[in-house]
Amino acid sequence: LNHCVPVTRERIIELLLRGLERLEYRGYDSAGIGIDGDFDDQGVPQATLLKSPGKVAKLKALTEACSLNMNQIFNSHLGIAHTRWATHGEPSDLNSHPIPSNEKCEFSVVHNGIITNYRELKTFLESKGYIFITQTDTEVIAKLFQFIYDLDKAKELNFRELCEQVVCQLDGAFALVIKSLHFTSEVVAARRGSPLLVGIKSSSKLKTNIIPVAEGCVISRANSSRGYNTGFSSANLSSSFSELGSLSSFSNLNLCENEHCELEFFLASDASAIVEHTRRVIYLEDNDVLHIVNGQIAIHRLKLAGSNPTDPAKATYREIAHIELKIQELMRGNYDHYMQKEIFEQPDSLLNTMRGRVNFDKHFCVLGGLRQEMETMQRARRLIFIACGTSYHSTLATRAFLEEMTRIPVDIELASDFMDRHTPIFRDDVCFFISQSGETADTLNTLRYCKGRGALIVGIVNTVGSSISRESHCGVHLNAGPEIGVASTKAYTSQIIALVMFALMMASDKVSMIQRSKEVISGLQELPDKVKEVLKIDQEIKQIAKELIDEKSLLVMGRGYQYATCLEGALKIKELTYIHSEGILSGELKHGPLALIDENMPVIMILIKDATFTKSQNALEQVRARHGKPIVICTPECEDIVEKYAFKTIIVPSTTDCLQPILTIIPLQLLSYHLALAKGYNVDFPRNLAKSVTVE
Ligand code: G6P
Repeated sequence: LNHCVPVTRERIIELLLRGLERLEYRGYDSAGIGIDGDFDDQGVPQATLLKSPGKVAKLKALTEACSLNMNQIFNSHLGIAHTRWATHGEPSDLNSHPIPSNEKCEFSVVHNGIITNYRELKTFLESKGYIFITQTDTEVIAKLFQFIYDLDKAKELNFRELCEQVVCQLDGAFALVIKSLHFTSEVVAARRGSPLLVGIKSSSKLKTNIIPVAEGCVISRANSSRGYNTGFSSANLSSSFSELGSLSSFSNLNLCENEHCELEFFLASDASAIVEHTRRVIYLEDNDVLHIVNGQIAIHRLKLAGSNPTDPAKATYREIAHIELKIQELMRGNYDHYMQKEIFEQPDSLLNTMRGRVNFDKHFCVLGGLRQEMETMQRARRLIFIACGTSYHSTLATRAFLEEMTRIPVDIELASDFMDRHTPIFRDDVCFFISQSGETADTLNTLRYCKGRGALIVGIVNTVGSSISRESHCGVHLNAGPEIGVASTKAYTSQIIALVMFALMMASDKVSMIQRSKEVISGLQELPDKVKEVLKIDQEIKQIAKELIDEKSLLVMGRGYQYATCLEGALKIKELTYIHSEGILSGELKHGPLALIDENMPVIMILIKDATFTKSQNALEQVRARHGKPIVICTPECEDIVEKYAFKTIIVPSTTDCLQPILTIIPLQLLSYHLALAKGYNVDFPRNLAKSVTVE
């Protein structure tokens, strides 16, 4: 939203498109923008929506071809834009956001998340004569705005009050921004479950860093939480308006003392979209409704009847925080792809994860964010590590070391499965949530479930200010820098380091662990250089990728500390190359997978001189005996032995057992990267996948 800054239409479109490009990694099957078009006889600008399936570049071409006057100047203007990752409805013009309420676009909505009661709402709205033209859940939001706006009783409502009425009817997850012909140059936005922040740029000093939040109004749902099919009607919907009095009494806050101050507001789901404009942001909380008009801002917090009491501190104000993200970190630099940059950045990202936390001379680790809770953690009944995708694999890679150093039972859980099982959680459990984005819906929901049951909540996240980092009791930031490539690489290796550092910290007062801690801390010190060594085999891997290009399936086998590498390597291969790939625990080889082995099945095996070496060697022999042609990733000590059996070898430096997964995953990151390129696929944006999955 540009306010009080004379600005051309061209500039508005450019700002929106640039923001979308920065967010494209989160979802990218279609994109759209909503801006003010030509003015009607009354001087009211008509809404213009430009939308297109495909990437932002296609939308950009569409805006270039548009016939609107690009030099038109606005003193105040709201533009909205969205890049979509389809949940309901295929990627198409119609299903792209902004979704309008009708042909005139009286209300246009951009939405992240899923509205779980959209079927009931749709049935209700259809019974009122509304005709749905998209297959999206979002259309019910646009039409609900229209429906309530058109009710006689609602005529007095301002934009925020209208929005509150709509939001109260929604179940599920959402971050919403709405533009309306009836409230030009105003914006309302709301969130529940999906991230949303507001960046503020001003030409003079802001008079406050704290935005008070109006709180305490309870709006009862028009019907019981799921009863739309039966009793929902305009009569009982409008009956809930009676409580609006308390909302209206709270006036919007003027942010600048100086009346000539030029203000611009940027709403986004992720700071990367706005960091080039401002570093001052407000992170909205669940059930917040934001209203900006004439440079004045108001935040209201909805309390739905029957909802849990909210955190009182969060209920009273929102702080204007300062974000550190550097714009260069979001650029690709000299690399061809973000993924390539992120793989090659690992010597630095690992160093940054360790920076200020490991004392290499005195052999100890301190994670400042966990210090206060160490006693509680050491007394815990269980340590439960919960995550999805690659982040889950980092817990698998470190589980043995965590068990060894803490001597406390360690559970690792996939968030979705954990919730499906309604797993029992107790007050003396400590639950860790590992996430690159800090926004993954499955992980976040599990966090809330565990928090509600009294467990200590620890966040291990890369994205500062993300929902998981804000909702945890304590935590560790990975400091790996922004990760844009959809397939996670540097965040994974930093997660392993963070979990290893945590295990070391837990063992710091155990005399019996001194020697082991020393060994691992020396390993940490040497690690960035060893990662550099591994990266040198890039061209060798590129060659192997060329040879594998026509394969239909690829197995990755190993055990012990390397099992995580197998699962993560197979995930990278399937995500990027669309080749079927499976990570197999070689201990399970004879219980089934051996049937797959013949001279045609490509197998990658990982063999390391650690406690599992003899058993891994047996697996290698078994594969060879079935005429398999294993490509073996191994350390120099194993080379001689392996040479006898391997079809090809990839040598990585050796390090202490618990850090070895960092050195063995890199060849597989490179392999999937080169294989995808060789097949002509987009490595940064693989089909059907999104970087940050904010829907369940
Ligand atoms: C998505 C991404 C994966 C990622 C997973 C968990 O599926 O495509 O690369 O591992 O989400 O994401 P998180 O941000 O929680 O680590």
